[in-house]
Amino acid sequence: MNSPGSESDPLPIHSVIMRIKVCRKMKQDGTANVRSFLHLCFFFAGKEMSMENVTNIKQEALSRLEACESLADLQELRVLYLGKKGPIQDLMKSMKDLPKEERPAFGQQVNALKQALAAAIEDKRTVLEEKEINERLQQEKIDITLEGRKPNLGNIHPLTLVQKEIEDLFIGLGYSVEEGPEVELDFYNFERANIPKDHPARDMQDTFYIDMERLLRTHTTAIQMRVLEKDSPRTPIKVICPGKVYRRDDDDATHSHQFTQVEGLVVGENIRLSDLKGTLEFVARRMFGEKRVIRFRPSYFQFTEPSVEVDVSCHMCGGKGCPTCKGTGWIEILGAGMVHPNVLRMAGYDPEKVSGFAFGIGAERVAMLKYGIDDIRHFYTNDIRFLKTFTRFE
Ligand code: PHE
Repeated sequence: MNSPGSESDPLPIHSVIMRIKVCRKMKQDGTANVRSFLHLCFFFAGKEMSMENVTNIKQEALSRLEACESLADLQELRVLYLGKKGPIQDLMKSMKDLPKEERPAFGQQVNALKQALAAAIEDKRTVLEEKEINERLQQEKIDITLEGRKPNLGNIHPLTLVQKEIEDLFIGLGYSVEEGPEVELDFYNFERANIPKDHPARDMQDTFYIDMERLLRTHTTAIQMRVLEKDSPRTPIKVICPGKVYRRDDDDATHSHQFTQVEGLVVGENIRLSDLKGTLEFVARRMFGEKRVIRFRPSYFQFTEPSVEVDVSCHMCGGKGCPTCKGTGWIEILGAGMVHPNVLRMAGYDPEKVSGFAFGIGAERVAMLKYGIDDIRHFYTNDIRFLKTFTRFE
């Protein structure tokens, strides 16, 4: 065989350098063995073109591949063997020196070697990649035993608490809850409530008009008027109407231009003032304690006749007199009365056949009494320190 190692055709210098490099590396890595030594001997003896040499290169590369421990090592090995200056490339280059009839078989061998090596390197890459990922996962493990930080949760607003409490109480008595628009028609807010245009009673509830026909409602009585119209002439009606209301007022510790009402309405046959009293006494006891008693004082509302102001015996002193009740033993909690015949008539009911009672509770007032709050403005300024004190009531 006429090979590049024979006397007639000296070894190409780059091939010799390459061999030396490979051997030095193998020595460093500790992968040099008898086979690689033989390989080197064959090489310098001019046997490089032999099939055996192909096998040697393969064995050597595979055993070095086996020893590879990192992707960086693998890359180095790949360049060393499959790169432009590698032994396989050398074999390819030297093929031209072979007799023509030997070239195809030799070429196939070299190609097969190249492919086998490339495939083995890729396999090894998969293994090493997986190994590196596992190592990283191990290193970057998150310690989930550390207690998390609790997010700052809000709590229910005291007014909502009171509103819900009143609602629950009345739902238990068979009432349903009705809502209505805050921008209300003058018609439902005043006219249907027996407060015609230019009536002086309007001055008591002066408010914010949007235009001549619409305004921010001054009481949730407006919702009651809508319910009456919608359900007329069906009875019985038993509803409570919670919601925000607005009045032109100078804000101070006890007044606010916006506040919350829960009003109630019952219409049916034989509804009497004593029914109103019994209902309100039950509510007062539930809200302020079982020992509470109530009293009615005469009052005036355009939409009820007779009208009453309702006081509850003081829950702080039991009626003896204290700063909360201003020494009187009584606390005013709501306005109420028997539904005015005009109101029933306008809604299509016959006041000779049906009657009803209505009442209006101020949620702020109840909350201030229950929780000992001294300024109505606390409800709206939303100071977190104030609001947080109500978590224990939820
Ligand atoms: N609507 C009255 C107010 O806002 C309260 C009330 C309701 C009085 C029902 C009597 C009957 O002051």
